[in-house]
Amino acid sequence: MRIATFVSGRGSNLKAILNYPELKRKIDIKWVITDKPFCKALDIANENNISFYCIDKYKITEKYDCLAELFKKDNIELIVLAGFLKLLPSTFVNNFKKRIINIHPALLPSYGGEGMYGMNVHKAVFNAGDRESGATVHFVDETYDTGIIIAQEKIDVSQCSSPEEIAASVLNIEHKLLPEVIEKIADGKIKIGI
Ligand code: GRF
Repeated sequence: MRIATFVSGRGSNLKAILNYPELKRKIDIKWVITDKPFCKALDIANENNISFYCIDKYKITEKYDCLAELFKKDNIELIVLAGFLKLLPSTFVNNFKKRIINIHPALLPSYGGEGMYGMNVHKAVFNAGDRESGATVHFVDETYDTGIIIAQEKIDVSQCSSPEEIAASVLNIEHKLLPEVIEKIADGKIKIGI
């Protein structure tokens, strides 16, 4: 299965996908797309000889239109947002209905939406005194974190004494859940595009 990934940061989820043994012969990551030209995730792309493209803040709609054309020509079957922080233009999302998935570091619909990313999520969970958190993989639609939920995994965070501890525990869950969902999509156990 031919995949394009979108990243904005350190790329730990991209790395988890690349390192997941069962995926090695099932997927081919053709593109790494980012909005951050100097993010660590691009180092991971380079180390793995994966083509990358940086979408800066100028003429965004036109660039996404070009990207959509490129992905269609390249027979990209699945788009994975792996730590990507921007909202995709609705024209792009509609071009790839139910073919874009995202990993979110909380149990959606709780702690989702604009501004709920990274440590903002874990601070909110910690301040609320929640005893559990977790990760969610969902289809991407036109607004932040509101697409159909594909999979979730919970974790007990009652013993965590800081938002940073919650973040670390949830990240471990993410690095398992996202590759597992991609494998199920590659195996046809989770239907996409319909
Ligand atoms: C992760 O917590 C992910 O859930 C969120 O962005 C964070 C960073 O991801 N979307 P990565 O380490 O850059 O893959």
